[in-house]
Amino acid sequence: MIEHRLIERMIAVMDRHRNDIENGTSPDNALLDAIVDFLRTYADRCHHGKEEDLLFTALKSKPMTPDMVMAMDRLIDDHARSRALVRRLGESNARSRGGDASATGDITEAIAGLVSIYPDHIRREDKEFFPAAMKYLTKEESDVMLSEFREFDRKLIHEKYVAVVEGAEKR
Ligand SMILES: [Fe+2]
Ligand SMILES: [Fe+2]
Repeated sequence: MIEHRLIERMIAVMDRHRNDIENGTSPDNALLDAIVDFLRTYADRCHHGKEEDLLFTALKSKPMTPDMVMAMDRLIDDHARSRALVRRLGESNARSRGGDASATGDITEAIAGLVSIYPDHIRREDKEFFPAAMKYLTKEESDVMLSEFREFDRKLIHEKYVAVVEGAEKR
């Protein structure tokens, strides 16, 4: 939930930039690079990663109600849709940087899609899914999960910068 607060702040930045673009401002390609990196590394790899790889995986071995299974499937589907939109945002930003004016509409559409997914997704997790999920876990299981979250986070900075160096080596 703490991570949701940071994601919300970036979503607000994105929505402001989308609005500026629609009012005639040129896409800020460097800002969009930072947004795409944030969405890929923080929102998807770090945040959705912990949800899907640790929390959801643990819940799958529990006797979840059909409603709970449906809610989880919907969250996973939101993650997949946002991943596809981030890919589209990254690709259209690259086209925009290359001088393709038609990329602007794709940028604002991808942002609008992400802005429409996240607030409701986060609300469902914070208010409905996470509180319900906690009821399936014993105190010990949730403590273990918290330490797994920390370990997951600890590895990420290394994974991220190994990829940066590998990308640089290929240039
Ligand atoms: Fe999520
Ligand atoms: Fe989340």
